[in-house]
Amino acid sequence: MPHIRLHPRKSDAAQAVAKEVADLIRLRSKSGLKTVLGLATGATPLPLYAELIRLHRETGLSFRDVVTFNLDEYAGLPPTDPHSYRYFMEENLFRLIDIPPSATHVPDGLSQDFQKTCAAYEEAIRLAGGIDLQILGIGRTGHVGFNEPPSAADTRTRHVRLDEMTRRDNSVFFGNQEAVPHGALTMGVGTILEARRIELLAFGSGKAEIIRRACHESPNADCPATWLQRHPHCTFHLDPDSGTLV
Ligand code: PGA
Repeated sequence: MPHIRLHPRKSDAAQAVAKEVADLIRLRSKSGLKTVLGLATGATPLPLYAELIRLHRETGLSFRDVVTFNLDEYAGLPPTDPHSYRYFMEENLFRLIDIPPSATHVPDGLSQDFQKTCAAYEEAIRLAGGIDLQILGIGRTGHVGFNEPPSAADTRTRHVRLDEMTRRDNSVFFGNQEAVPHGALTMGVGTILEARRIELLAFGSGKAEIIRRACHESPNADCPATWLQRHPHCTFHLDPDSGTLV
């Protein structure tokens, strides 16, 4: 069972996770170590990124010693497309902090050889020393990253087909469902489980049922977030609406 933290508001959850991130970066920087962060996209992490930007501006938190790996990217979208996750990260975090551009990684959605690109992404994570802290959201299908059901615990970075429920949920960003790509590149469940620490955020009543399943079903491929129960340092940060059924 993951550790559950119920926060009064999503802004409190964002502040708590931002503090964990900031404390880790400062501690490691003091010893001359880089911090490797796994990052997520979507509506959920936005208040967290806003808080990290505030800490950068108002408290001098520096990202010069930070390396990032995003969970996923839509297949076929160039980084200049406003719907791509590379664009999302530039707009909502990277261009607003002092992280070196070469230290940010998002899978290449334009790759002509997904297998090679995904293997290289795994290798880059390994060479960076592995992920110290992974930020996650959760989809209503039970996906983490774009690991749609069924996704086994040992899956690695790969090309996947998106679930129709996910395409429907994400159509709010695209205007209509037809415009949502059918495929994506995503870190695997196995890749995510190798992070040394995992902080999952979920807000709103629409996530209550999948949070219940993620916490209470035995680990299974049809609800990939259940695999997180096997991680020794995983916390679910919930608001009162997403936490009603835990
Ligand atoms: P959301 O997506 O933050 O937009 O709800 C979460 C996810 O699909 O992982």
